[in-house]
Amino acid sequence: MPDNSMGLIFPTLILFLVVVTLFSFLQRKNVRGPPCIRGWIPWLGASFEFGKAPLEFIEQARIKYGPIFTVFAMGNRMTFVTEEEGIDVFFKSKKLNFELAIQNPICHTASIPKNIFLTLHEKLYIMLKGKLGTLNLYQFTGQLTEELHEQLENLGTRGTMDLNDLIRHVLYPVTVNVLFNKGLFLTNKRKIKEFHHHFQVFDEGFEYGSQVPECLLRNWSKSKKWLLTLFEKNISDIKAYKSAKGNSLTVMQAVLDIVEMETSEQSSKYGLLTLWASLSNAAPIAFWTLGFILSHPDIHKNIMQSISSVFGTAGKDKIKLSEDELKKLLLIKWCILEAVRLRAPGIITRKVMKPVKILNHTVPAGDLLMLSPFWQHRNPKYFPEPELFKPERWKKANLEKHAFLDCFLAFGRGKFQCPGRWFALLEIQIFIILIFYKYDCNLLDPLPKPSFLHLVGVPQPDGQCRIEYKQRI
Ligand code: HEM
Repeated sequence: MPDNSMGLIFPTLILFLVVVTLFSFLQRKNVRGPPCIRGWIPWLGASFEFGKAPLEFIEQARIKYGPIFTVFAMGNRMTFVTEEEGIDVFFKSKKLNFELAIQNPICHTASIPKNIFLTLHEKLYIMLKGKLGTLNLYQFTGQLTEELHEQLENLGTRGTMDLNDLIRHVLYPVTVNVLFNKGLFLTNKRKIKEFHHHFQVFDEGFEYGSQVPECLLRNWSKSKKWLLTLFEKNISDIKAYKSAKGNSLTVMQAVLDIVEMETSEQSSKYGLLTLWASLSNAAPIAFWTLGFILSHPDIHKNIMQSISSVFGTAGKDKIKLSEDELKKLLLIKWCILEAVRLRAPGIITRKVMKPVKILNHTVPAGDLLMLSPFWQHRNPKYFPEPELFKPERWKKANLEKHAFLDCFLAFGRGKFQCPGRWFALLEIQIFIILIFYKYDCNLLDPLPKPSFLHLVGVPQPDGQCRIEYKQRI
C-alpha cells in the first residue's frame, strides 16, 4: 500500500510543478515591461545621456526602441508612450494619478508639504478653472487691454530690443497686475531688473530644482528664496487689495482664500507657484507667436490688413477691444495656437498606481508615465507637414465651441487640463493686436531654434533674436 501511494504522489508533484512553472512563465510573459534604457551606473541609470538634451533623447529612443519604452534615471522609472493606445490610457485610465505624479516636483520647487498639496489641490483647481474659464474670460478683456496699452507706452516711439526682453517687459507686469494686484512688485527699474533676474533663474532651474536637493543648486535656491521673501513681504497687501471692479477677488486673492482656510504658513509658496504657472509658458509662447508671424511676411501682411479692417489704419489711440472684434481677428488666434503646437511642452506626466497594460507591455505600478506633446505634434499622421508654421490648419478646429484640433495636447487633457489656457490665449491675442496696431515690427535676426535642454514646459529659444519697432504714426 505505502509503495503504491508514493508512486502516485511523485507524478502528481511533478505535474503540479510543471503547471506552476508554466503558469508563472506565462504570467511573466504577460507582465513583460517595455524595453528599458538603464545605462550602466546603478541608481543614476541613463541620467547622463538623458540629461544632455532630454527632449532629443526621447525622440531618439522612440526611433530605436519603438512606441513604448522606459528610461531609468536617478532612481526613477519613466515610461514614455508615443502612440494612440498609450495616449488613450494616459488620459483615461483610472489606474493613473495626476496629483501623485506632480506632488514631489511641487514639494521640491515650492516647498509645499505633500499632505497640504494633496488636501488643497482639487479645491484650487476647481476655483482656477472657474475664474479663468470661458464663461468668465471676457471679463479680463478690458483690464488686459488697458494694462497692455500702458506697458507698450513704455517702449517709446521706436527702438531695438532682444525679443525675449521685450516680451518679458510687457507681459510680466500685465499678468501680475491682472491676476495678482495692480502695482505689485514691478514698480521701479531696480525692482523690475531684480525680479526678472530671479524669476529667470528660478524658471530655468525649475526642472533641476524639482529633482535635485536644493542645497546643490545654490543660485537657484537663492532666487527661489528671493521670490518667496518678495511674496512674504506682500501677502498682507495682496489680501487687502480692492480691485477696481469692487467685490470681485483677483485670482491670487481667491488662491489665498482657499489656502488660508487650511493653513496660513503656505501662502507665499502658493504665490510663487501661481506666479510661475502664469508666466513660465505664456511669455515664451508670445515670443514664438510674434517670431513666427514676423518671419512669415505673407501671414504678417494678412494680419496687418485684418487689424486695419477692424480698427482703421494705425494709431496712437488707446483702442478698446470687444469680444466681437476679437472673433473677427481669428487669424491671430490660429497663429498663437500654431505656435503652441510647434512649441508645446516637452512632457506631461501621470503616476501609475496599478499595473497598466499598453500595447503588449505591462507598465508596473510606481512608474511615471510620460507623454510628449512636443513630439506628438510632429506626427505627420495628425499634422501634415508638421514642422511648417501653418495657421490655416486651425480652420478645422471648432474654436467657437472651445474645442482644439483632435491630437493637440499642449494643455494636457481630461480632468486636470491647464486651467489658464483660455486666459493665456486671450492675453497673447490682445498683445499681438496692440503691438501691430501701434508699431511696425521687424526681426533683425533669424528666429532661433527651440532649446532641447528641458522637458518641463514649452521650449525656450536657443539663442537671441532682436526686434526693431517703430511707431506707425
Ligand atoms: C500657452 C501657455 C500655457 C501652456 C502651454 C500651458 C500648459 C500646461 C500644461 C501642459 C499643464 C499640465 C496639464 C496636464 O498635465 O494634463 C498645465 C497646468 C497648469 N497650468 Fe498651464 N499652460 C499655459 C498657461 C497657463 C497660464 C497663463 C496659467 C495661469 C494663469 C496656467 C496655469 C496652470 C495651472 C495652475 C496648472 C496646474 C493645474 C493642476 O494642478 O491641476 N497655465 N499648463
